[in-house]
Amino acid sequence: MKNVLILGANGQLARNTTRVFLRDTDARLTLYLRRASRLRNPDPKRVTIVEGDVLDRTRLEATMKGQDVVYANLSGAMRQQAESIVAAMNATGLKRLVFISSMGIYGEVPGERYGSMLDPYRDSAARIEASNLDYTILRPGWFTQDDEISYQITQKGQPFKGHDVSLNSLSDLIVKLALTPGMESRHSLGVSRR
Ligand SMILES: NC(=O)c1ccc[n+]([C@@H]2O[C@H](COP(=O)([O-])OP(=O)(O)OC[C@H]3O[C@@H](n4cnc5c(N)ncnc54)[C@H](OP(=O)(O)O)[C@@H]3O)[C@@H](O)[C@H]2O)c1
Repeated sequence: MKNVLILGANGQLARNTTRVFLRDTDARLTLYLRRASRLRNPDPKRVTIVEGDVLDRTRLEATMKGQDVVYANLSGAMRQQAESIVAAMNATGLKRLVFISSMGIYGEVPGERYGSMLDPYRDSAARIEASNLDYTILRPGWFTQDDEISYQITQKGQPFKGHDVSLNSLSDLIVKLALTPGMESRHSLGVSRR
């Protein structure tokens, strides 16, 4: 039974993925977020809620002890967050990281130039790729709310295919990545509707 730490647990995709973890797996979850009173504990037997900022290294490291996998679902100051995560994982000996980024960070979306808007995503991905971690970076298309699970993956260096992807598709992939040893290790994946 794996212990999964979810950073930015009140995010839209993180909340959907928490639901899928609890429904489809026996993983134990630690939900790490700012202002924790916003989140109701969905299953107190399997879920621990920790109030914290990813930039708070002391709290982050303390929360990483005993975890197997880190799933980061963040926004905002992502370069600094990636630095904090990599340092805390190195300090605690944790290896497996699933990190949510965005399509477009390598200029891989045909006909689109996202410019400086994506700099925090580019910089955070570069920090993670320069680490020794067993990471998988996801570069999703635009999120949709529909139920279907249907997605295709493109590797770094390939043009991104498609445009959008359902939250349920992303959650399906994140759960598999978190619980399958070696799956897409040290890869950066474009993810879009098939
Ligand atoms: N929506 C799309 O179509 C789309 C497409 C491609 C990529 N993405 C990207 O995918 C990522 C996940 O999406 P989402 O919709 O789940 O994002 P979201 O709802 O904005 O969630 C991001 C979470 O990060 C948390 N966070 C930010 N800084 C933090 C810090 N220092 N410490 C702890 N938590 C922090 C935020 O917490 P607070 O609530 O406390 O601010 C927020 O809950 C985002 O980066 C998004 O830009 C989105």
